[in-house]
Amino acid sequence: MKKKLNTYGLDLENLPKHIAIIMDGNGRWAKKRGLPRSAGHARGAENLRHITHFCYDIGVKALTLYAFSTENWNRPLQEVTALMDLFAENLNHYVELMGDRQAEVRFIGEKDRLGDKLKQKMLEVEAYSRQFKDSGFVLNFAINYGSRDEILRAAKQIAQDYKNGKISLDEIDASLFSEHLYTHGVPDPDLLIRPSGEQRISNFLLWQCAYTEFYYSDILWPDFKAKNLADAIKEYQKRNRRFGKV
Ligand code: IPE
Ligand code: IPE
Ligand code: MG
Repeated sequence: MKKKLNTYGLDLENLPKHIAIIMDGNGRWAKKRGLPRSAGHARGAENLRHITHFCYDIGVKALTLYAFSTENWNRPLQEVTALMDLFAENLNHYVELMGDRQAEVRFIGEKDRLGDKLKQKMLEVEAYSRQFKDSGFVLNFAINYGSRDEILRAAKQIAQDYKNGKISLDEIDASLFSEHLYTHGVPDPDLLIRPSGEQRISNFLLWQCAYTEFYYSDILWPDFKAKNLADAIKEYQKRNRRFGKV
């Protein structure tokens, strides 16, 4: 028999539709235990799967997870390699997730720098996953993602379309701009969560977070469990979102 889902007393009628998470604190988690940083990343990746399943199961519609930023290339080569290897290993879990839960998976960020083999596999996963486009759940996995790069890329595409006479100046508005971002078609995040005690955005979803509610926690990502996510959602449910109105 299927185990009943523990929803931690959440009001499921008032869930954030789209949650974004900066999965931070893996390195400190490992350091505290005298383990190599890569061990923290491995635990972080495991946690990612639990949290993704929980979000799907309670009825969240979109989840965007920050896994590797455009600035993270500046880490020691050994750590970057460990992160890329871990990501390659985990690709199969995304396929599983799509199979079990019928979820759409998208990789957001610039794929070329990740290498031909990985890029090819990611494109295959996305192509397979497109059949679940209307399933009601999308997982955006941000890898080699930087919001400034994303915005510049959109600006260049729009400039090109203007130059080619495909669009007029008047047509360039917020809605058209959003359509050129990696997150096109997905409504902006309602809730952004950053564990690990840091209170900054670190080049994540700068355009999309214009009216997002922020939630910070001191818990390190590998320890950030479904219950902690439920606490974040409960806090979100108490907020009064005004969008500039009174
Ligand atoms: C997040 O954990 C994972 C990535 C940024 C790739 P960190 O590796 O940043 O962990 P801390 O912040 O050093 O603890
Ligand atoms: C942000 O974390 C990126 C990811 C979690 C993938 P960082 O650890 O790279 O951010 P900073 O350097 O503390 O701002
Ligand atoms: Mg960090």
